[in-house]
Amino acid sequence: MTSNGTSSNNKDGVLMQVEHLKKYFPIEKGFFKRTVGHVRAVDDVSFQVYRGETLGLVGETGCGKTTLGLTVLRSYQPTDGSVEFNFRDQGMVDITELNRKELKPYRREAQMIFQDPYTSLNARMTVRDIISEPLIINKLCAADEIDDRVAHMMQVVGLDNRYMRRYPHAFSGGQRQRISIARALIVNPSFLVADEPTSALDVSIQAQILNLMVDLQEEFGLTYLFISHNLSVVKHMCHRIGIMYLGRLVELGTRDAVFENPQHPYTQALMAAIPKPDPDQPSGLESAPGEIGNPANPPSGCAFHPRCSHCMDVCREVRPEFIKVGDDHYVACHLYDEVEAQT
Ligand SMILES: Nc1ncnc2c1ncn2[C@@H]1O[C@H](COP(=O)(O)OP(=O)(O)O)[C@@H](O)[C@H]1O
Ligand SMILES: [Mg+2]
Repeated sequence: MTSNGTSSNNKDGVLMQVEHLKKYFPIEKGFFKRTVGHVRAVDDVSFQVYRGETLGLVGETGCGKTTLGLTVLRSYQPTDGSVEFNFRDQGMVDITELNRKELKPYRREAQMIFQDPYTSLNARMTVRDIISEPLIINKLCAADEIDDRVAHMMQVVGLDNRYMRRYPHAFSGGQRQRISIARALIVNPSFLVADEPTSALDVSIQAQILNLMVDLQEEFGLTYLFISHNLSVVKHMCHRIGIMYLGRLVELGTRDAVFENPQHPYTQALMAAIPKPDPDQPSGLESAPGEIGNPANPPSGCAFHPRCSHCMDVCREVRPEFIKVGDDHYVACHLYDEVEAQT
């Protein structure tokens, strides 16, 4: 496998600035659907995405990764906070404020690669129609150019373009994920959210798709928000990594900082649990002691405190701020004091 962590192309400027983003889902009860509470799927998250990087987002199932990805794409309207995107022609724009029409340019710039290529592709459409649909919806291509555009994009993602009139069922899982990638890329986006793009695939196929994503990133200058619960995949793919716990970002840093010098006790527990040669052992993410809390009723103070071996009184009471602990390394934990900016 080629590794994506060695090239340091992540300081070419900020492509996305997320500030205090929240996405709460109402919990409704009874016939009148009275709101009795909220699931705090994303609960005050701030981070930047650098142009050309792969930013990994890691955390246990239910910690809010998918919701965060869909919210920065404006597939969900956030409950609070802002998502600024650096457009090629207009600079930073808060996409949470845009109406349907104003969002059109963002719908091309930012695309999603879904987790499961078996359910995300419309079984009744030919591959040609699936891949070209975003072009047609956005009126970006004349009808007589579609075949050429699709054929070219199929070639780019490693598919035989003679098969463009076939239906998805004729393709393997890996080939279907290539179809999804072609569909995402055909509108020439700069930003892709990849939500566990290989977790539904055979292990033998996963590396091929990951390597394709690395190659495409280089070829087209793409920026990825790469969601995964597999730490070795994240280590292979990502320049920087954010660790999520119960809707919050608890640590954010370069790949090396997070893997070699983890600061948050939760990250430390995850890292201590890899590598795991025994496939029957839980992966690092399930091996922190105790159970993940309930996002409808998160623990007070630091949400991780009931599972934390360093828990102090302050951790039960005060939510820790996200502070800088090193060069491009941030953590939300009361064990640490902010360091002065190093020059
Ligand atoms: N559309 C929705 N409506 C209500 N609750 C949701 C919805 N989507 C996700 N959730 C809840 O939000 C939390 C985070 O979910 P999700 O973002 O899917 O996490 P992850 O992708 O990390 O597994 C979970 O508790 C989940 O049940
Ligand atoms: Mg998910």
